[in-house]
Amino acid sequence: MAGHQRELLVREARHLAPGASEEAALAKRVFAEGRGAVLTDLDGNQYLDFAAGTLTQSLGHGHPEVVAALIRQAERLWNVHDSPTPERAAFFELLARLLPERLDTYALFSTGAEVVEAALRVVQSTAEPGRNRIGALRHGFHGKTMGARMLVHWDVGHQAFAGNSVLGYAPYCYRCPLELEYPTCDVRCAALVDRHIASKPNVSALVFEPVLGAAGVVVPPPGYWERVSESCRDNGVLLVADEVATGGGRTGAFLASELLGVEPDLVAMSKGMANGFPFAVLAGRRDLLHSPAAAPPGAYASTYAGNPLGIAAARATLEVVERDRLIDRVRVLGDRLGEQLAALHARFDVLGEVRGVGLLHGLEFVRDRATRAPAPEIARAVYTTALELGLRTSVGGHIIRLAPPFTLDEALLDEGVRILGRAVERVVAA
Ligand SMILES: Cc1ncc(COP(=O)(O)O)c(C=O)c1O
Repeated sequence: MAGHQRELLVREARHLAPGASEEAALAKRVFAEGRGAVLTDLDGNQYLDFAAGTLTQSLGHGHPEVVAALIRQAERLWNVHDSPTPERAAFFELLARLLPERLDTYALFSTGAEVVEAALRVVQSTAEPGRNRIGALRHGFHGKTMGARMLVHWDVGHQAFAGNSVLGYAPYCYRCPLELEYPTCDVRCAALVDRHIASKPNVSALVFEPVLGAAGVVVPPPGYWERVSESCRDNGVLLVADEVATGGGRTGAFLASELLGVEPDLVAMSKGMANGFPFAVLAGRRDLLHSPAAAPPGAYASTYAGNPLGIAAARATLEVVERDRLIDRVRVLGDRLGEQLAALHARFDVLGEVRGVGLLHGLEFVRDRATRAPAPEIARAVYTTALELGLRTSVGGHIIRLAPPFTLDEALLDEGVRILGRAVERVVAA
């Protein structure tokens, strides 16, 4: 790392609270600019950004139409609490076109954790008496506020806080807690979630990531969501999809739920909504979000919830996604990425599994394929080596995630995977 970055890191370290993400702490890069899929650091080094910010910049950094919409809005109006603005109605109409028909009512927020909290408030205020527990899945991640943390049963940032939640098996085939194999397992994990839900009349909702993102892009096998959602329906348990990471097209459908055949009652979306501008949407069934218990005056309002700048950024982002048929591109590019990662998997034993859907893929690093012992030290080394070679990914524990912008072309996609391959090669050879 050259001079300017090092100097700046030393300066800010005098004041910066510790607790940065593994990504930022390991990278030690000061990013100065982003254009499309390319980031430039303070010393002029460039990186292909296969993390798209933090799964946020679906259209790439600094997309001109989003920038123009933000500038226009910045010159006119910034914040009028949650008062209607001319753009809000148009934004809602756009959302209604992109989302399944039954999700026709919306409330706006700023962050992922905030929208998950809002969903929990709707669930708790409308639940039948006695239904005082909320179901979640092992390995799920939903944010760091107290309500969201109640659903997160692993230590991310802070110690887990189980609160009033109950836990079901996630469809994590590579590390099956039941030590079974798909398909001979007959998706036993789903059968156990079903049994749990059926035997506990106190569960009001299941909050779930349809594809578990932070845990390493865990894509459920066919049969899992069919069984679990049928169980929820039969037992009066609401389906609350946390699509903070997947909503907006990343998996090759506007919602990952659609891809997996789940029909959620409420959906939380954020990262892919406004190309990196803080923004989140709670979408839901009209009867739920309109219910008097869920919507007393002020229920969906907060200082920045649905501020005009966020709406402008989200509207511009989703208009481009719709107009340029980018979700079709996600599927095409996603298949190409999947094929290339499968080739990497065949080359390197340290890759226990590669998996993904659309433009969201995870690489799981292991000490050896027999024991499947997680190898965070290898994942970290690959992450930092890839940065040195000009590729930014997302790292957490022994997992590297790839989530490039939807606007990438084939040549850049191939180039990113080539760099990643070189990084693994170097780490393995070291
Ligand atoms: C699925 C999911 N839910 C919720 C969150 C929390 O979002 P935020 O960091 O904006 O609070 C995240 C963040 O990564 C997430 O991936």
